[in-house]
Amino acid sequence: MQRIRIVATGGTIAGQGAAPGRTADYQAASLDIDQLCAAVPGLDAEADITVEQFAAIDSKDADPVFWQALATRLQAILDEPNTDGVVLTHGTDTLEETAYYLTLTLKTAKPVVLTGAMRPATALSADGPLNLLNAVIVACHPQAKGRGVLVAMNHAIFDAREVAKLDTLRPDAFAAPNAGPIGLIHDGRIVWLARADAPHTLGTCFDVATPLARVDILVAYPGFPVALITAACTQGAQGVVWAGTGNGTASHTVEEALSAAVLAGTVVVRASRISRGVLIPSERAPGQIWAGTLSPWKARILLMLSIGAKLEHSEIAAAFATY
Ligand code: SIN
Repeated sequence: MQRIRIVATGGTIAGQGAAPGRTADYQAASLDIDQLCAAVPGLDAEADITVEQFAAIDSKDADPVFWQALATRLQAILDEPNTDGVVLTHGTDTLEETAYYLTLTLKTAKPVVLTGAMRPATALSADGPLNLLNAVIVACHPQAKGRGVLVAMNHAIFDAREVAKLDTLRPDAFAAPNAGPIGLIHDGRIVWLARADAPHTLGTCFDVATPLARVDILVAYPGFPVALITAACTQGAQGVVWAGTGNGTASHTVEEALSAAVLAGTVVVRASRISRGVLIPSERAPGQIWAGTLSPWKARILLMLSIGAKLEHSEIAAAFATY
């Protein structure tokens, strides 16, 4: 039997509502990991399970300090010879950020599988128990090794780099807009569909000790006040991710402000507010780095780590072309 540690952090999977019909109005992070496991018949038959309550938060309260503390704890667990893999329960609102941060920093080939729920534990048809069971089954699977951090939600398995939450409330909220799921899981059977290409975990230049620099995201909209770009830089952002329109584009005034930020030493990354597609660099934005297929939220994490690791500008550009 595989020895799996379930590490809990809160979220809707541990949420409690006032009535079974309540699926959207509830208190997240109310139940502990023993209560979550007790709601999953057959869990103990899948793996030799130990549990740990790392935190009890709504994932909107996650921040870089939380990420680093979580990664440090997970690394210690993964380094234990008697642990074969980790399942992490997490709120869905920022699950994609935590998953990408972990896949860039953890040094392991052991499976690490994140899961959560869109409906609280008290709801009719709560999705958490089956998601948790499936995540454990994925973590036990021999082909889950060496794939980096995975996300198991609603019968699908996603790569941490590609996964995104695309629906506010529905149980099928998670998708990988550019890549699709890398596997499916039904009734304990996994069908692997694809293998993600980008280096991760053991293949990156980051680890859990890499500092996270302050990076702000600015999202494009008509009439965007350029003073916000200046404000981010003067208030301590070492990098800015521009979540532009379409192909990472910007108005004339924003283009000028971003160019000025580059000249002033801020690292500027161009991403898109569109959730699908690749960005093709423009020659009209010299000195700026293009996020490729990374969402603004994930581009921010890569930039935070890249600046924190004191990479040169050319090395940051290479990191964006690689990870
Ligand atoms: C959270 O992200 O902690 C709350 C929402 C959710 O888990 O779906």
